[in-house]
Amino acid sequence: MKLETFGRNEWAPAVGARLVAFLPDGRHRRVCFATGSTPEPAYAAFAAGGGALDDTEVFLLDEFLLPRGDPGRCDEMLARSLLELCPSPPLALHTFDVSAEPLDDECRRYERELDAGGLDLAILGLGANGHIGMNEPGSAADTPTRVVDLHPTTQQNAARYGATSPPSRGITIGMRAVLAAAEIWLLVTGEHKAAILNQVLTGPIGPDVPASFLRDHPNAIVIADEPATIPR
Ligand code: F6R
Repeated sequence: MKLETFGRNEWAPAVGARLVAFLPDGRHRRVCFATGSTPEPAYAAFAAGGGALDDTEVFLLDEFLLPRGDPGRCDEMLARSLLELCPSPPLALHTFDVSAEPLDDECRRYERELDAGGLDLAILGLGANGHIGMNEPGSAADTPTRVVDLHPTTQQNAARYGATSPPSRGITIGMRAVLAAAEIWLLVTGEHKAAILNQVLTGPIGPDVPASFLRDHPNAIVIADEPATIPR
């Protein structure tokens, strides 16, 4: 897995420009997008740099089991941080209906939409516990899209994102579909991510640190800022 590092202030413009280049006009692309704090400045740079999603099928990576409209939900974050900044809507927007019953059927529906063409690119963030999406520690490389119990730190993330009540569960694209993406970008910023990024890059590959599985992917890249790459 390649590692590309940028200065703290250069990181977001670099990722934004890379995404603009990945989504050229007239080329149908299928991309899954993480939400959360990390990608926000990169998405803003994408939009400011003339990025558009007219030819892109957007897949939300994961979602908290929170009521529709809750500001901490991932679909709300994606709208705020990316979709509303772009000049026109994406070609298609795939999100989770977390009020569907049974939720397992909703997971299978989403998995079918993913498999009907796969992903050209998965844009991921890195959890402080090594998760990607909501694939928490213990997630094997072949896990499907599914309902998951959230680690306490992931529940705290939801509060940080503005959730009105802490969710205990979520739905995530599974490791299988993430690892099947043609290309993967793992976005990592900040010194608070340095220790876990070091584990991802140099520790054992396995379910204890789900992001470590990216090292077995032929076309995965870590795009980090300098503070995230200085092991502490
Ligand atoms: C959110 C997601 C999560 C976050 C991760 C890092 O859609 O997929 O895995 O990417 O928890 O969150 P931040 O970027 O807020 O540190």
